Formats: sequence, C-alpha cells, structure tokens
Amino acid sequence: MTAIRGAAAITGAASGIGRALAIELCRRGCDLALADRDEAGLKALAVEIGRDRKVSVHRVDVAEPAEIAQFAEEAIAAHPALNILVNNAGVALLGSFEEIDQAQMEWLFNINFWGLVHGTRAFLPHLKTRDAAHIVNVSSIFGIIAPPGQTAYAAAKFAVRGFSESLRHELSVAGSPVKLSVVHPGGIATNIARNSRTGVGVTDNARRAQSIERFEAAARTTPKDAALRIIAGIERNEPRILIGNDARFMDILQRFRPGTYWKPLQRRLEKMAQGK
Ligand SMILES: NC(=O)c1ccc[n+]([C@@H]2O[C@H](COP(=O)([O-])OP(=O)(O)OC[C@H]3O[C@@H](n4cnc5c(N)ncnc54)[C@H](O)[C@@H]3O)[C@@H](O)[C@H]2O)c1
Repeated sequence: MTAIRGAAAITGAASGIGRALAIELCRRGCDLALADRDEAGLKALAVEIGRDRKVSVHRVDVAEPAEIAQFAEEAIAAHPALNILVNNAGVALLGSFEEIDQAQMEWLFNINFWGLVHGTRAFLPHLKTRDAAHIVNVSSIFGIIAPPGQTAYAAAKFAVRGFSESLRHELSVAGSPVKLSVVHPGGIATNIARNSRTGVGVTDNARRAQSIERFEAAARTTPKDAALRIIAGIERNEPRILIGNDARFMDILQRFRPGTYWKPLQRRLEKMAQGK
C-alpha cells in the first residue's frame, strides 16, 4: 500500500483531471509540483490551494525532453520528499486517419506518449531513492479499445499501456520501492474536446461542434470523482485503474469480443451521446 504523503509532481495540472488531482492530493497533505504549458492556469490553481501546503508551479511543455528534465530538477530541489509522479498531460485530435496528417500524429504522440516517457525517465532516479514511491501513468479506455476516429490517440494510449505494464514488471522483478499504476478513464467531464486540434482534412466546420457536443453528453464522471478513484488506486497499489461505468463496460466487452467489440459498443455510445 502506498501512503499519500510527501509530495507529488503532476503534469497537465492546470485543467481537468490533473487539476482535480492537485486539489485532492493537497487535501490529503501532499505538497505539489505542478506542471503545465498553461502557466496562468497553474498560477490560479496555486492561489486556490496553496495556503496550507508547499506548492511550486512550473511552465513545462512535456513534448520537450529538456523542459521535463529541468522540471524534475526544480521540483526535486523544491520538494526533496517528492514520492509521487503523475504523468497526466494529454491532448486529443479530431478526424479519421485520412483527415489527420503525419505532423498532427507526431504532435499528439510527442505529448501523449513521449511526454509521459520523458517524465518517467526524468523522475525515476529520484523516486528510487525514496522508501516508497508511485508513478501514475494516464492512458485512457482508448488504451484498451480503439474506436474509429482515434487512430493517433488510441495508438498513443495503447503505447502508454504497453510501456507502463512492462516498466511495472521491471520494477517489480528488481524489488524496487517504486510502484506503477496505469489509469484508463472513460469519459470525464473536462475541456479535453474543446482543447483538441482538428485534422487538416476535416472541412466540415459543424463536425467539431458536433464532436464536442457528443463528448460532453457522454462524459459522465466528474474530474473530482476521477481524482478520488486515482488516489484510491495509488493507496491500494492497483496496477490498472479503470474509471467510470463506461470504462468498466468497455473493458469487459473487449475481453468477450476482442475482435468484434465495435458494433455493440457503437450502439451503446450512441445511446450515451443522447443522454440515455
Ligand atoms: N477527459 C476524458 O474523457 C479522458 C478520458 C481518458 C483519458 N483522458 C486523459 O486524461 C489526461 C488529462 O486530460 P483532461 O481530460 O483532464 O484534459 P484537459 O484538456 O482538461 O487537461 C489537459 C491538460 O494538459 C495540458 N497540456 C496539454 N499539452 C501539454 C503539453 N505539451 N505540455 C504540458 N501540458 C500540456 C493542458 O494545458 C491541460 O491543462 C490526458 O492524458 C487525457 O488523454 C481523458
């Protein structure tokens, strides 16, 4: 069991799941090193929560390895007891494979996959020096199933899962004090769809508004509930943290119909998008 104490480094902390995690970890007595490329959002959050605990803010683009290395150096200097790393920063991309170009796929991979690898590489040497430490890598339910329109996102989130599961096994075999959980949220009511980029080949302007509307109708779990679920998963050292009934349903469906889950899932998603 990993106790929530010491200090946590969180990427993508200015919004959504990362922001809610910062608030909830702070409530449980954790100091915080908060990273995001949205510096104004980070500062506003620090003012909101930083009265009782030590909170440092770091403007970081997780796609840049040098910026993450500097973040780790500064975060560890500010919080020598740092024992939790949450690789959470992520983005989404609207469009089919033929509507997104190579540069857009690489943009997404550089954040959603390589950003998480850079974060792990930068913090792991320090985490290994702690008596007990935890890495939380945020994948998605789209790291378990892959709907159409998610070629880049699902590929990156499957990669996050493969990287994380292999690293967890390496740490376990080595008897390391560092534990690792991979998180697979279903729909969480955040700004991810509004913050997404649109594929260069998407010409119909209505598609973007429609896709945001569908996501927001289907995303039932609050960021606070997602954060509480992640904290419970850290405490119980759960290897895989599924969030939401939608994620649990899709996980089970994938086990029963690994090659043919899409049609029944499509019917279910359509109902959810209608608020049913
Ligand atoms: N919301 C969902 O339904 C959902 C579902 C499954 C997985 N996820 C994953 O959860 C994580 C958090 O997403 P969210 O829903 O809270 O989204 P969000 O858009 O509300 O928050 C993402 C945060 O990441 C930051 N960010 C983006 N690119 C960055 C970069 N290059 N460097 C530093 N920070 C960067 C953004 O500024 C933002 O503050 C992501 O990895 C996402 O893929 C979300």
